Amino acid sequence: MMGERASKTGAAARGSGLVDSYGRVADDLRISVTDRCNLRCMYCMPADGLPWLPREELLTFEEITRLAAVFIRAGVRTIRITGGEPLVRHDVVDLVAQLAALEPRPELALTTNGVLLGALAAPLAAAGLDRVNVSVDSLQPERNFEITRRNDLDRTLAGLEAAREAGLTPIKVNCVVIRGTNDDEIADFARWAAAHDYLVRFIEYMPLDADGRWSEGDVFTAEEMLDALGAAGWKPKREGDAEPDPAARYSLGDGGEVGIIPSVSAPFCASCNRVRITAEGALRTCLFALEETDLRDPLRSGASDDEIDALIREAVWGKWEGHNIGRPDFVRPGKSMSQIGG
Ligand code: 5AD
Ligand code: SF4
Repeated sequence: MMGERASKTGAAARGSGLVDSYGRVADDLRISVTDRCNLRCMYCMPADGLPWLPREELLTFEEITRLAAVFIRAGVRTIRITGGEPLVRHDVVDLVAQLAALEPRPELALTTNGVLLGALAAPLAAAGLDRVNVSVDSLQPERNFEITRRNDLDRTLAGLEAAREAGLTPIKVNCVVIRGTNDDEIADFARWAAAHDYLVRFIEYMPLDADGRWSEGDVFTAEEMLDALGAAGWKPKREGDAEPDPAARYSLGDGGEVGIIPSVSAPFCASCNRVRITAEGALRTCLFALEETDLRDPLRSGASDDEIDALIREAVWGKWEGHNIGRPDFVRPGKSMSQIGG
């Protein structure tokens, strides 16, 4: 499946991109700005929330921007702001403005549950945000409440419209499909997204729920998603992938298009171009990584940009080939989605 592991000689030198020993280049950085959230999605958080990080453990905006600058110098082109829910972090608009001022200017995206987007879409766009991904897992109010444990579907839908008005397009909607929970809504989502010009992406449920309830049987697979679209009368046709994108794009024939992210049944590890920083400043080279590289301590104890660059390169070089969900040797990371960043 994947190429041979390269020798380290030269490949990790400063000046080249952020390469790993399998030849992949990381140019997509995801930065979590908080572990807190205003929802409690059952596939992510426990009903009572989690012990939140104290404020002083979070990277400051200055620290985040400095790290981002080092990553950009090393070849990162896209920065995605994540959480928890990134819009619950105070003054997140200021962070967007700071990141947008970096050179070369990164493409800036943000993943949100949309609840606070109604008021923030316009200021975020004005600060330099390019686009958003909004999580919506059910269009049925009662079911949405069961999944998110909050009554905020209307605010999320208003947030989506505000994002459109602010020009944060193309607007992607993330929908985690869980067997027996919302797997009967796939056609509804496809119709709704086409009518509103959102690109819906159906995501296979991954073992990153804080409650540890995930089981393989809960995963509604990409194949089953395609069957559901077929049963609704569409003939999903696979489109070519524009850029490294974990979502396989399917046109539905009547102008609609959906994405399907087979994170469990056919993970995109072989072409993964991502790297993550947690809210407390740890570098993770994979969602499922079992090890992290702390960057906050070096940042706070006077390390130079070159020293931080070297730490990042070392960690990226050591990125593993991929996760092995479903195999007997799979080990869940000790953190859940909200503590890692989506
Ligand atoms: N499996 C798949 N996707 C998840 N997300 C959160 N938890 C999971 C999970 N266990 C999604 C959210 C959001 C993005 C950050 O990740 O719905 O869209
Ligand atoms: Fe919050 Fe996102 Fe986790 Fe839902 S999935 S609880 S919106 S961080």
